[in-house]
Amino acid sequence: MTVHFIGAGPGAPDLLTLRGRDLIAACPVCLYAGSLVPEGVLAHCPPGVRLVNTAPMSLDSIIEEISAAHAQGQDVARLHSGDLSVWSAMGEQLRRLRAAGIPYTVTPGVPSFAAAAATLGAELTLPGLAQSVVLTRTSGRASAMPEGEALANFAATGAVLAIHLSVHVLARVVAELSPHYGADCPVAVVWRASWPDERVVRGTLATIEAAVGDSMERTALILVGHTLGAEDFATSRLYAGDYDRRYRPLGTAPRFPAGTE
Ligand SMILES: C[S@@+](CC[C@H](N)C(=O)[O-])C[C@H]1O[C@@H](n2cnc3c(N)ncnc32)[C@H](O)[C@@H]1O
Repeated sequence: MTVHFIGAGPGAPDLLTLRGRDLIAACPVCLYAGSLVPEGVLAHCPPGVRLVNTAPMSLDSIIEEISAAHAQGQDVARLHSGDLSVWSAMGEQLRRLRAAGIPYTVTPGVPSFAAAAATLGAELTLPGLAQSVVLTRTSGRASAMPEGEALANFAATGAVLAIHLSVHVLARVVAELSPHYGADCPVAVVWRASWPDERVVRGTLATIEAAVGDSMERTALILVGHTLGAEDFATSRLYAGDYDRRYRPLGTAPRFPAGTE
């Protein structure tokens, strides 16, 4: 018996990995995290599946549910939205499973920041403008931010910020970031990226608050950085005609001669 943790993606049912789909189809028990996991993903469950929405449950009762499946030798598909490596509460479940000696696997999913960037048609890292993306959030009721992880500290680097779980405090985000990025820094807020009703509001740190108003709540990502919407950036050397590289050796003394590893 194994518990398969599966990243269910940002919302669109077809943004699920083939491995995730096949595991869901093979498990007689499926635990899924409430409203963020779309019905289209649950449609891959086999007939007769025991389907459990964990949104109203405590960690203890989730572990009880898994232990009961373990006792019956039934594999479990455990679904969380997006990818499991960020804000999935997988860590605390894995710790309990390790303590109980229950085997598990982890299958990654498409994270919401990647889905939001796709909606925008944007590469978040562009030569000369920004080469780092910080996945972060602001303090919430369930989790406080550790000291040192203030938005202002990340902002000081000039990296692109993908701010989760924070659209309800957009005014505070704008106030903290404006001194670092400047009032004209581009911002995009993407609500329910990849869902049929997804929405995008673009603006700057000066305008975004008024543009969003109270039209978006909860499942929205705030992207801030100078690469958003930029056209004036350098071309990378990767495809430059005179760039000598492993897969296209150039000149009389290439750095990686043909036939070498
Ligand atoms: C509990 S976190 C889950 C993050 C998820 N594990 C991931 O990989 O993106 C929920 C937050 O992720 C963001 N989010 C999740 N799905 C989203 C989507 N489809 N569109 C925009 N933001 C989304 C929102 O900021 C939301 O408040």
